[in-house]
Amino acid sequence: MIDITQITSEHITAHGLPAAAFKDKDTYQLECEKLFTNGWASIGCGQQISKPGDILPVKIAGHSLIAIRNKNGEIGVFHNICRHKGAPLVDEPCNKRSLVCPYHKWTYKIDGNLLSAPSYFGNENKVMSAEDKADKSLISVRFAIWWDIIFVNIDGQAEPFGDFIQPLDELLASYPQHDIRKISTTDYSGEVNWKLAVDNFLDGYHVPFVHSQACSLESVLEQDDLLLSENIVGLRLANGASAKQAKTAKQLPHFTGLPQEKRGTQQWFGIFPNTLFFVDPCWVQTIVIKPMGETTTAESLSIYVVNDEAASDEYAAEQTTLHEILNEVNQQDIELLDKLQVTRSNEIANQGHLNAAWDQVNMTFHQMWLKKMRAQPSAQ
Ligand code: FES
Ligand SMILES: [Fe+2]
Repeated sequence: MIDITQITSEHITAHGLPAAAFKDKDTYQLECEKLFTNGWASIGCGQQISKPGDILPVKIAGHSLIAIRNKNGEIGVFHNICRHKGAPLVDEPCNKRSLVCPYHKWTYKIDGNLLSAPSYFGNENKVMSAEDKADKSLISVRFAIWWDIIFVNIDGQAEPFGDFIQPLDELLASYPQHDIRKISTTDYSGEVNWKLAVDNFLDGYHVPFVHSQACSLESVLEQDDLLLSENIVGLRLANGASAKQAKTAKQLPHFTGLPQEKRGTQQWFGIFPNTLFFVDPCWVQTIVIKPMGETTTAESLSIYVVNDEAASDEYAAEQTTLHEILNEVNQQDIELLDKLQVTRSNEIANQGHLNAAWDQVNMTFHQMWLKKMRAQPSAQ
């Protein structure tokens, strides 16, 4: 195990996190606890479970969870763990009126309460009382929805979500977040440490080179770093969107009521630890990074247009184009990340030099990591 106490802030500023942090098993275990159990991690999107009874199972950083839309249209998040002997209830996204454990058929309502258990009292002809069932509901998980992203705090002890997200919420106050309509979610996986996926999203320097189809070096020279809080960093291109406006004849509509000065602005953010979020005047993308192991990561990329008009058939061709462009970019990143994993986790990479002109946001993400990994549990 690498000794977290030996990593200095100076080393991070100069070189980033040590190479071993991208492959060390014990470090990963500590991340699962300190970052993913104790923090606000995203698991998916509300519009992935749009109908009552829709269920989304998610594996992330050693946890197995389910998000469910109930009969009233509200979302609940639970551990995907049966209250009998701990079997998983659901393996795939599905729509159900109740959840039946495959092991011994204990059955739960979609609000998480136990409905029935076959022959619970053996050959005694007796039914379960409310009291018998009371301590056998699925275990719920604290969660919050913001810009359709489902965030969970598994240990239940993190700061209120409103406080956590406030700086970004304020920055985006003029965008009507509830108008967004999801057009696709695409799952990816890579043989890469999750931090490299986050890091790469916050690296504006590579975009004109790895994604030369998307923009030029000149267009990213104007990018601003956004250091919003101890949990949120990002980048902004004030005219990133307007530079591309002329390329196609028909444009997707922009956010309803968006002030004129924001109609060219692209901004993208890393919300610690695993939420990647991009806001264009005409579209939004979220990437939920799901660590599966120290060098295995799954990602779900969801793409939205920004109001009902943009989501209508009138814009079907533009929606398809948007989906293809953003997934092409992500596929290029995935291919890069698989290779980067091998070299960035090699000791020689500790002799690399971060560039003050371009790598401030990455550096800040690494500093956040160090601070949270070193944090002592608060006295209860
Ligand atoms: S483990 Fe689920 S019913 Fe037994
Ligand atoms: Fe990229």
